[in-house]
Amino acid sequence: MLKTFNDLADFSDEEIRALLDLANRLDAHPEPEALKGKVLSLLFLSPSLRTLASFQAAMVRLGGGSFVISPDMSIHGLESRHGIVMDGVAAEHIREAVPVIASYGDAIGIRAFAERKNLEDDMAENEFRALTSLVDKPWINMESAMGHPCQNLADWKTLDDYAVPANGGKFVLSWAYHPKALPLAVPASTLYTAARRGMDVTVLRPEGFELPPAVMDKARTAAENAGGSLRESDDRREAMEGAHVIYAKSWSSTRHYGDRIADQKLRNELDDWCVDEPWFEPAAPDCRFMHCLPVRRGVVVADGILDGPRSIVIHEARNRMLAQMAVLHQMLGGKA
Ligand code: CP
Repeated sequence: MLKTFNDLADFSDEEIRALLDLANRLDAHPEPEALKGKVLSLLFLSPSLRTLASFQAAMVRLGGGSFVISPDMSIHGLESRHGIVMDGVAAEHIREAVPVIASYGDAIGIRAFAERKNLEDDMAENEFRALTSLVDKPWINMESAMGHPCQNLADWKTLDDYAVPANGGKFVLSWAYHPKALPLAVPASTLYTAARRGMDVTVLRPEGFELPPAVMDKARTAAENAGGSLRESDDRREAMEGAHVIYAKSWSSTRHYGDRIADQKLRNELDDWCVDEPWFEPAAPDCRFMHCLPVRRGVVVADGILDGPRSIVIHEARNRMLAQMAVLHQMLGGKA
């Protein structure tokens, strides 16, 4: 039985294949009673559309139920600092709130984005570990500082669904412009996923937006073990040569991590990093466009790409539900 779903790196190739096969099976052959009577607690400390809706839909489709807690609801203000005298606005500490929420369900999903103050703290997943240490139930990472495994499993399924070659497939993870500094969770874990799938992966990014060495090393090892490769470039034409997929995502400057003003100054010069048709000239003719969503039209990517045949973002988002159904089925002991 699955106890945690936190990082695809925790799973063998066979275990990942089993989850993908189960996701496909549950799509083709629904099991509306598999999780009858089971409850999933969903704690969102950061905003969401897809993760929030797809987990609830997944539980309903498997015959179970779920409930959501987030700071936007009329809950007591939550405090997370250690040793604080709680004489301010917050009336409840996570040390009570999290185990209480977990106690109502059979498993819990937790989302807490990176603080984006200190790269080492975020890389160590200090905030997320503090939350999961309070839980004595199976738990799912619904996006932490550095990981988004549900997105990763859905993306792997999407690549399979579109018959994008694993070995020999060319995957470009491209930085894209965004007015705000965004977390590293999606780019870091997407990079690992494509590498783990055995693809030839290129990280296309401007100077100052290099992914951390530990992230690159983890992906490089995975790629080499799976028969793929990893390189990085700031040259769009070179990176896109023969590409089967471009996966666009914006992320924070690692050179100026935690320094909002310096990051802003650097990214302000880069608003031409908006994916558009000319990017695809050197690519494979049917090169696909992927993005985890939400995406800013006309900022990250042109309307024509999102609305055209290259885009597979809606299929990718639907796969979130199917991938999570597979995870929940294995975690909560689903029976056909
Ligand atoms: N891709 C993703 O996780 O979307 P949400 O932030 O809307 O959940």
